Amino acid sequence: MQNDIFSSDAAFDSLYTLRAQQLSAIHWTPLQIAIKAATFLTGGTGKHILDIGSGVGKFCIIGAHYFPSHIFYGVEQRRTLIDEAIIAQNATATTNAQFIYGNFTDLETDHYDHFYFYNSFSENIFHYKPIDNLVDASAALYTSYIEHFHQMLEEKPAGTRLATFHCHHNQIPPGYKRVEHITGQQLKFWIKV
Ligand SMILES: C[S@@+](CC[C@H](N)C(=O)[O-])C[C@H]1O[C@@H](n2cnc3c(N)ncnc32)[C@H](O)[C@@H]1O
Repeated sequence: MQNDIFSSDAAFDSLYTLRAQQLSAIHWTPLQIAIKAATFLTGGTGKHILDIGSGVGKFCIIGAHYFPSHIFYGVEQRRTLIDEAIIAQNATATTNAQFIYGNFTDLETDHYDHFYFYNSFSENIFHYKPIDNLVDASAALYTSYIEHFHQMLEEKPAGTRLATFHCHHNQIPPGYKRVEHITGQQLKFWIKV
């Protein structure tokens, strides 16, 4: 049963409500992308990986399944999505993932070694098929979230890894060097130099 859940996106998404399943193609990381990103992020020193804007927890739970000696954390500003993540976590008996309800800008990030970012703040500037209309969204918020994201990443030590999905290079601080771009998949890997 466990292996079946991790066999395809459709199987994995069946852990979620119909509404979350309908959002998956646009808002949640595909299974094979999550595996590739987690493979990269677990290749550095340190075992604490943070998904910034973790949604229904798909990246974290898949990463935790394939890399049981690491801990995958997700911070998410929508309570309903945290609830979905915890239900999926329990259904898959995942013990090395943890979901934190709140805004990323309020999170103390010293504890985390490497980061996953699926262009989470873009909902402030692009309004195509939104998750919901229950959080504030504006260009000013986008700017302040990106500034906070840059500052947090810049304060991290050399060797810090970042995996981005559907992000432009101008969203990444200059101290991070792109080490791989999986062409056609919008997946990029960065390391702080
Ligand atoms: C594109 S989805 C990605 C979800 C998940 N990382 C995945 O890959 O499956 C982006 C998520 O970021 C969340 N988000 C956006 N801005 C946030 C913020 N400032 N703090 C916490 N979560 C945020 C949204 O609610 C949404 O669930």
